[in-house]
Amino acid sequence: MLVENDLTDELLVDAWQQLENSIIYYQNRPVGTVAAQDSSVEALNYDQCFIRDFVPSALAFLMAGKTEIVRNFLTETLALQSHEPQMDSFKPGPGLMPASFKVESQDGQEYLTADFGESAIARVPPVDSCLWWILLLRAYIKTTEDLTLAHQPEFQEGIRAILDMCLVHRFAMYPTMLVPDGAFMIDRRMGVYEHPLEIQVLFYAALRAAKELLLTDECNQPCLNNINRRLETLTYHVREYYWLDLQRLNEIYRFQGDEFGKEVANRFNIYPASIPNWLIQWLPETGGYLAGNLGPGRMDFRFFAAGNLLAIITSLASEAESQSIMDLIEERWQDLVGNMPMKICFPAVEGEEWRVVTGADPKNIPWSYHNGGNWPMLLWLLVAAAQRTGRSELANSAIKIAQDRLAQDEWPEYYDGKCGRLIGKEARKYQTWTFAGLLVARQLIDNPSQLKLIGFEQN
Ligand code: GLC
Repeated sequence: MLVENDLTDELLVDAWQQLENSIIYYQNRPVGTVAAQDSSVEALNYDQCFIRDFVPSALAFLMAGKTEIVRNFLTETLALQSHEPQMDSFKPGPGLMPASFKVESQDGQEYLTADFGESAIARVPPVDSCLWWILLLRAYIKTTEDLTLAHQPEFQEGIRAILDMCLVHRFAMYPTMLVPDGAFMIDRRMGVYEHPLEIQVLFYAALRAAKELLLTDECNQPCLNNINRRLETLTYHVREYYWLDLQRLNEIYRFQGDEFGKEVANRFNIYPASIPNWLIQWLPETGGYLAGNLGPGRMDFRFFAAGNLLAIITSLASEAESQSIMDLIEERWQDLVGNMPMKICFPAVEGEEWRVVTGADPKNIPWSYHNGGNWPMLLWLLVAAAQRTGRSELANSAIKIAQDRLAQDEWPEYYDGKCGRLIGKEARKYQTWTFAGLLVARQLIDNPSQLKLIGFEQN
């Protein structure tokens, strides 16, 4: 036992060292962390600070009492927020937060440049950035117990700009947010357009966080009313209609199609023939999950880890659903965790479906990268969800699997194969959210009360 402890201590020292090495300084102040430090491949944009990648870094810092870097990050990214009023479709709309930023210099002067997707591969917009930003602001406030930063006029305005953009009423008949493909962690074409679960959960959590952060004054009241209404309908919609277990599958299997009117059972016109064969075998007797997406005539039956785990942590999933999701993970451990926690989505799309859904993307071949790869970054979310549901044995098993490999494999970005045995074909090494994620997972085990930084109580 002593030897094992020594080894894991060494591992944590290494992970902290890597995290320190990844820090980006701007005018001598720490402001973020790079995505990866793999000198063996071209950096592309991995030398930038991605908002989503910085989340586990920020949590690791906050949990260790290092709040300054997170405060600087929040302030600098707020200054980068788009305020473009004009309707130039090639520019980001007002309220949008960048996907990533980097420090550049000219004539000895440092400045920050941001990428809102106008340089990103395939020009994908980062819908998740502004939602993560609000969640990080709340985590910072929870740690410091000081609301003054959030109450500053620029911060209040920044939050309102995000909400204005997210709550705008356009062509929707659902309370979920309509987004293009690749608008979040899965930032390539993967059939995750429309109403992907991950964005809906982040949207829900950001609304709950904004409610805590906005001052209740006359200026914010309309926005707060809007938040309350949306939270109610969004919660109902996701819990009710995204939910899938054996009982629900039986109902869908016997659905009538083409029903007209307000009170119909098959509201979204899901045809039973769209139920994939794998699901009928795979869904256990106990256990269920929230489907990956829901739209007209379309239920994406794939299991997406981040959306489901975040739904547990933020209480978008009901108490019973949360337990059920953990049951499913336990029952299908080999498929969902296997040799590296955890699979980003299950199963992979293959053959003709892969060609159509991904546009024949060679990086997203079956069981690799976003298409069924295993991402160690998801470990912290798995551990947080396990703790939230009182399943610490699952948290410990997952950590053990990750710890046994990550440092030796030089902290890869992702793993390939049905069970995640191979280091990802094009995975970066020394990927920041890989070691930051392990640090957060370990901090959550040592001090479960830290869950409050990212968690929300059931309403
Ligand atoms: C890849 C991932 C994206 C991540 C970025 C930097 O593009 O898909 O989620 O933010 O790399 O690590």
